Amino acid sequence: MGDRWYQEAVVYCLDIDTFEDSDGDGVGDIRGLIGRLDYLARLGVTCIWLNPIHPSPNKDDGYDATDFYNVDPRLGTLGDFAELLHQAGNRGIRVIIDLVVNHTSDQHPWFQSARSSPDSPYRDWYVWVEEAPPDRHQGMVFPGEQNETWSYDRTAKAWYYHRFYKFQPDLNFSNRKVRDEIKKITSFWLQLGVSGFRIDAAPFIIELTEPGNPDSPKDFEFLTELRQHVQWRRADAVLLAEANVEPDQLPVYFGDSGGSANRLHMLFDFMLNGRLMLALARQDPEPVIDALRDTPRLPAGAQWATFLRNHDEIDLSRLTAEQRNEVFAQFGPDENMHLYGRGIRRRLASMLGNDRRHIELAYALQFSLRGTPVLRYGEEIGMGEDLSLRGREAIRTPMQWSYKENAGFSSAPAEKLVRPVIDKGDFGYEKVNVTAQRRDPRSLLAWFERMIRTLREAPEIGSGTTSHIDVPMPPGVLAHRADGPTGTMAFLHNLGTEDVEVDLSTLQPEADLPIDVLTDRNYPEVGKLDSLKLAGYGYRWIRVCRSTDV
Ligand code: GLC
Repeated sequence: MGDRWYQEAVVYCLDIDTFEDSDGDGVGDIRGLIGRLDYLARLGVTCIWLNPIHPSPNKDDGYDATDFYNVDPRLGTLGDFAELLHQAGNRGIRVIIDLVVNHTSDQHPWFQSARSSPDSPYRDWYVWVEEAPPDRHQGMVFPGEQNETWSYDRTAKAWYYHRFYKFQPDLNFSNRKVRDEIKKITSFWLQLGVSGFRIDAAPFIIELTEPGNPDSPKDFEFLTELRQHVQWRRADAVLLAEANVEPDQLPVYFGDSGGSANRLHMLFDFMLNGRLMLALARQDPEPVIDALRDTPRLPAGAQWATFLRNHDEIDLSRLTAEQRNEVFAQFGPDENMHLYGRGIRRRLASMLGNDRRHIELAYALQFSLRGTPVLRYGEEIGMGEDLSLRGREAIRTPMQWSYKENAGFSSAPAEKLVRPVIDKGDFGYEKVNVTAQRRDPRSLLAWFERMIRTLREAPEIGSGTTSHIDVPMPPGVLAHRADGPTGTMAFLHNLGTEDVEVDLSTLQPEADLPIDVLTDRNYPEVGKLDSLKLAGYGYRWIRVCRSTDV
C-alpha cells in the first residue's frame, strides 16, 4: 500500500450505539464493536469512521456534543476507546472519528457559561447579536424541523447563531481561542491513536458569520492551519470533510500549495452521489459520465470519498427539480420517504426494490469509480429502513446480526433498545442478517467480501486516474478505466435491464492477457475485448494489464 493509505482504503461508517450492545442495556457500545472487529476485518474494511462518540444529550444523534474530550458513558469509557484503537490496529484497521465542531450542544458547559453573562470568558466563543438579524429565517439546513438560524436566548438577553438546530449554537471561529481549542481537541484524539477525522459541516465551520448577511465570508485559512497542526502531530492523519457545496467551489477546500493539497485530504463527493442516483433511476450512465467530466482537477494528495448511502438522507439538492423528481418517482414514491424536500430517507437495498442484481450493480459501480469508497453499516447485508421512525432515524436502526431476539444486537428487552430493530417484512432481521449470509457463499455479504478483496488488489482505482472510455456503447452501459503505476483496469457496468454486447477492442493494444476479476456471472473469456457479453444490470471488472514496475 502506498504512503497515502487513505487513497486505497475501504471506509466503513457506523454508529456505535446501533452496532452491538455488549452489556444488555439496549445501547450499542465500544466493547460490542471490539467484538465485531473480526467481522469487519473479514469484510475487508481498512478504516472505520465512527459517528460522534462524545457525551451528548443526543438530540441530533450525537452531533450535539457536551464534552469533546470524552466518550459518551452510554458507549463506554476512554479506556474502552483506547482498547478499541489497539484491537483495530492489530487487525490493520484504522479508526477515524467525527469531529463536530461547527457547534456544540446548548448544554455544553461553554455555552452554559457564555449565556450566563456578557462577562463570561466563553461569551465570545459563540456568535451573539443584540437585535434580531433580518436574515434569521434564511439558511436553515433542516427546513421544516427548524425555522430560523438565529434564536433569542432569554438568559443571555441576546440572539445567538445556529446554522443547524436551535440546540446547536455555532462556535465563533473568528475567535483565536476557539481555533486553538479545536486544534487541542484534534491533538488529544490523535495522541490516543485515531488516524484522522471526518469533519462535520466544513463550510459552516469556516463561516465568519455577519448578522444580516446570509452569505457571510469564509476563512479558508483555518483549514490550512488545522491541516498543518494535525499533520505535525501525526504525519499520516487524514481530514475527510463534509462540504456539500457546488463542485467548482471544492478545489479551495482541498487547497493547493505548489500542486499539493494543503487543506483537506478528502471530500465526500456529493455531486457524484446525486448523479449516481439519477443514473440508476434513469438506467442511463450519462449523469455519471457528466460527473466524471465535470470533476475538478485535484492537487496531489487530494482524494474523493464516494458513497451511495450515509447516515443522513440522500441529498438530491444538487440536481435540478426535474431530475430530483425523476429520482423521487423511482426510488421514493411515497411522500413519507422524502426529507427536507431534497432527499430520501431510505437505504439502498429497499430503494432498488431488494433486487439483488441491481444492488450489486450499484455497489460495483460505486467501488470502481475514482476515490475511496465509504460503506454504511448494514448495507453489506442489504438492510432496509423503518419509515415509522422520525426523520433520519429511519435509516439508523440496529445492525442485524442474527435470527436471535433483537436481531442479536442486544439482549435487553425490546422496549429498552436505542431504536427498534426492523422485525417485519422483507427487511426484517429474520430474513436479513449476518449469520444467515455468513453461511451462504452466494449471499450479498459474501459478494461484498469478494468485491472488496478485488478492489484491494486493484490499487489503481484509488490511487490512479479514472476516465470514461469514450467509444460507442449500447444504451445503459458505462465503460470506464483506471490507470495507475500498478496497471490498468477497465470496467463495464450495465445500468439497463437488456442483455448487450460491448466492443472494447480499442484497448486491445494495451492489453496483456486481459481477464475478468469481478463479474455478475460467468462470462465467456475476455478474448480480444471485441465482443464482450454483458447481462442486464451486469458488470465486468477487467484487468487489462498489470505492471510490477512500481
Ligand atoms: C452533518 C451531519 C448531520 C448532522 C449535522 C449537524 O450534516 O452529517 O448528521 O445532523 O451535520 O451536525
